[in-house]
Amino acid sequence: MNPLRSLILAAAGNEAIRRLVATAPGTRGVVQRFVAGETTADALAAVRALAADGRYATLDYLGEDTSDRALTEEIVRSYLRLLDELHAEGLAGRAEVSVKLSALSVRTGTGPFDERLALDNASRVCAAAEQRGTTVTVDMEDHTATDATLRVLAELRRTWPRTGAVLQSYLRRTEADAAALAGPGSRVRLCKGAYAEPADVAFDSAHEVDLSYVRCANLLLEGEGYPMFATHDPRLIAVLAERVRWYGRKQGSYEYQMLYGVRPDEQRRLAAEGETVRVYVPFGEQWYGYLMRRLAERPANTAFFLRALASR
Ligand code: FDA
Repeated sequence: MNPLRSLILAAAGNEAIRRLVATAPGTRGVVQRFVAGETTADALAAVRALAADGRYATLDYLGEDTSDRALTEEIVRSYLRLLDELHAEGLAGRAEVSVKLSALSVRTGTGPFDERLALDNASRVCAAAEQRGTTVTVDMEDHTATDATLRVLAELRRTWPRTGAVLQSYLRRTEADAAALAGPGSRVRLCKGAYAEPADVAFDSAHEVDLSYVRCANLLLEGEGYPMFATHDPRLIAVLAERVRWYGRKQGSYEYQMLYGVRPDEQRRLAAEGETVRVYVPFGEQWYGYLMRRLAERPANTAFFLRALASR
């Protein structure tokens, strides 16, 4: 992995650097590019703006790696309020929600998070989403959480079969997971993966990650589920368009997903061609870990990060 990318991802977990970045000049503008705002009203405004040109949304109330039960309860309640408001505003057909199990649960000594608490809290969000006419996708975090996340997801899918999974093509294991999740009714978001991972579990070169992405996409398109292709990569998007035709998939039987603030013109282009395009819209005050992963993805974004450190 590119050393600058590793450095920024390491900084994502560092409290002292978080404080430096939070108070650095220029931070606000960068946050605004990638994060829709701090409040539910900001999130709803983003959904309306996306809906105006035919795009859909998946809303992420920012937070991760929680150590405090009271905070997980606050996060669950924020999701429940958000779902109520989406419904009240008639936007439940345009937006679903994305959750991180490390935000809905607490760290434990033995695993990445308390699975029982994660399942209980995610179930509350899934039940509310179903009542309000929408769905939930469970984000995937670093590889130490993959098994626990897939176990909780399998439990959720017994009651809410349309709960979405996320698979990361950088993990060597993912082809097998894609084959296992390609059955009828499944919703699977396929992304490259955003965390710093060791070479024994993840492909190191971008080329291998891309090849794995296409192999997994083939498995999902060949299967009977609803694939959700989360990428901004122009080469992959061209390959996916060809693969979709090859498997005889009709528009609406799969979708493209991109991040808020990244390649909006491409999002609009695909939507104008009749593709379903869903934008991942993060909002809330806990933007630091999310922002660091976005900065690490693109060398041009890292200039801001280095300036923030140098200004201290
Ligand atoms: P790549 O990183 O190769 O980028 C291709 C091109 O896209 C770049 O050249 C640039 O033009 C543009 N681009 C990409 N990222 C950019 C950025 N941050 N700023 C500006 N331009 C950028 N990961 C994860 O581990 N777990 C998860 O649950 C999710 N969920 C998720 C949902 C959705 C809807 C998306 C789009 C992505 C995720 N991800 C994720 C993140 C994902 O794993 C990956 O890190 C990013 O999407 C970047 O990978 P690309 O496929 O875009 O390719």
